[in-house]
Amino acid sequence: MPEDMTARASDGFDQIAREAVYRAMFTRRDVRSHFTPEAIDDEVLARLLLAAHHAPSVGFMQPWNFIVIRDANRREKVRDLFLTAREQELPEIEEERQALYRKLKLEGICESALNICVTCDRERSKGSPLGRSHNPEMDLYSTVCAVQNFWLAARAEGVGVGWVSIIEARALKNLLSIPGHVTPVAYLCVGRVSQFAPKPDLETQGWGRRLPLPELIMSETFHGQGETPLKSAVAQLNRLAAAPAGPDDQRVAPAVPQREPPKEASALSFNSLNLEDASASR
Ligand SMILES: Cc1cc2nc3c(=O)[nH]c(=O)nc-3n(C[C@H](O)[C@H](O)[C@H](O)COP(=O)(O)O)c2cc1C
Repeated sequence: MPEDMTARASDGFDQIAREAVYRAMFTRRDVRSHFTPEAIDDEVLARLLLAAHHAPSVGFMQPWNFIVIRDANRREKVRDLFLTAREQELPEIEEERQALYRKLKLEGICESALNICVTCDRERSKGSPLGRSHNPEMDLYSTVCAVQNFWLAARAEGVGVGWVSIIEARALKNLLSIPGHVTPVAYLCVGRVSQFAPKPDLETQGWGRRLPLPELIMSETFHGQGETPLKSAVAQLNRLAAAPAGPDDQRVAPAVPQREPPKEASALSFNSLNLEDASASR
């Protein structure tokens, strides 16, 4: 390869940036129990929402809206909806797991600084359903991409996010005056946290464990065997991840970065992301 072709901008991020991206992914947690009462600055929340708004979407439809819910009374009503839905879900859980299910902390609606309901406007691209005539549900998947962007950006900012899905959608729509053609996709509890747990809460509490990735990889067709070298590479990564942690290990992550970059530097790097439509309104 000619030398000038080896370091193109399209080759990927430098190592520090790459590690930061993976660090956000591997240390992101669904947070329910470790919220602190600290408020979240609007500047921080704005960055998280901007990250969400830069998610991919079918036909560039951007079907999302973000309802910011701060009012304590309204949140208590949402929590009531959760409690009702949890009781309704209980009989569907295997009998021997019901006691554990009852003990699980599955929301932080009132303890977090604020809640955000991420919705999908199913009619936003009415008349031009690019990419949705055969798969109309793609708008919902796009909205989930926005949620994931929000979640990862929040992790990088030291903000915890917990997704609450044990809520009856129609009741939530009534409570938040969401129109008929708009679907609530995610109800998120958002706030500063005392820690990000090293493992999923549901793993720590014995509800489930991460499935072995090699068993989920198939070759060419759904049941296709093969891809042995790839599976070995994955297994090798897993072994490394399971190795005892050294002093610089970042898998058990503090909520607040150990070394804060200077304010100017963090603003500079955010500005350099070419967010030309950052202030555009719909
Ligand atoms: C679509 C979706 C819905 C979820 N709903 C809930 C929920 O109602 N309550 C809850 O405690 N966690 C909920 N979670 C969080 C999962 O339990 C969590 O992601 C999983 O246990 C793995 O843990 P981690 O996110 O910390 O890696 C939800 C996650 C997703 C993606």
